[in-house]
Amino acid sequence: MSRAVIPLVIDTDPGVDDAVAIMLAAASPEVDLRAVTTVFGNVPLPNTTANARRVLALAGRDDVPVAAGAARPLVHPQAERAEAWHGDDGLGGRASELPEPGAEPDPRGAVAVLAAVLRESAEPVTIAPIGPLTNIALLLAVHPELAPRIRRIVWMGGSLGAGNTTGVAEFNAHCDPEAAHRVLTQADVPVTMVPLDLTMSCPAGPEWIGALAAGGPRGEALAQVITHYRTAFRTRYGIDAVAVHDAVAVLEAILPGTLTPTSMAIRVACDLGPARGATVAGGAGPHVGVALDADTDAVLAEILTRLRTLG
Ligand code: BDR
Ligand code: CA
Repeated sequence: MSRAVIPLVIDTDPGVDDAVAIMLAAASPEVDLRAVTTVFGNVPLPNTTANARRVLALAGRDDVPVAAGAARPLVHPQAERAEAWHGDDGLGGRASELPEPGAEPDPRGAVAVLAAVLRESAEPVTIAPIGPLTNIALLLAVHPELAPRIRRIVWMGGSLGAGNTTGVAEFNAHCDPEAAHRVLTQADVPVTMVPLDLTMSCPAGPEWIGALAAGGPRGEALAQVITHYRTAFRTRYGIDAVAVHDAVAVLEAILPGTLTPTSMAIRVACDLGPARGATVAGGAGPHVGVALDADTDAVLAEILTRLRTLG
């Protein structure tokens, strides 16, 4: 018996690994990508929005509506972006080499487009946020009546161990801790959190990147986008391999059950001290599924196989 196609919205801040994740969704017949919404994060909002449109064009999916969302966090300004990882343009200096996108972004904006997709879908919709959670916190705050229309939220972010932005905070959580706290502590929608602990345990190495590039012109272009990110990983961690964080989360959205969650309450440190943005397990409150385990070789192989189908 074939499974029903899953309606999906990706909320994103492309971002090199975001680009891999969007291409992965475009290559996956199990999902119907209804919209891509954008948020500030790796680079400022105008860049993340332009990048989302160009990546969709590269994937041959510029029919997917794009809508821009939050340009800043909910409460406290946070000026730190991640150009050191993703390049000044957010796509490893290669954004201008990708195809020109088609339609303009939807003028209604991210929250209105998310709400419309939820209202209009016959089936509950999966939302895969792979950046700061600002748009999703706003959606839940403005449209609580739509929570039952969300099948699940699969978020790449957080860490139970070390951070990658401060000693304790992962980038997406650190960008907007109040939004992350809002989303992770609500009981209305099931949440799977895909933390650094897992995504850093399955870096894609030279063979993986080489096989991607050899898959065809789209794979070659994506591999070029990855080059700057690969250098940043070598410099920071001394490894010739890249964590495709966001693609790991989007694979779970496409194939539920790929990752193994542990149920626990998570709160986000929202004070302005050195712990800001840390995702801390324990205490009272609704549980989320924290994906700490997976067959990581199979995850990387599955992502690669799907990307190669794009040619
Ligand atoms: C997350 O931060 C961003 O730099 C990546 O795109 C990913 O979403 C990893 O910490
Ligand atoms: Ca991201």
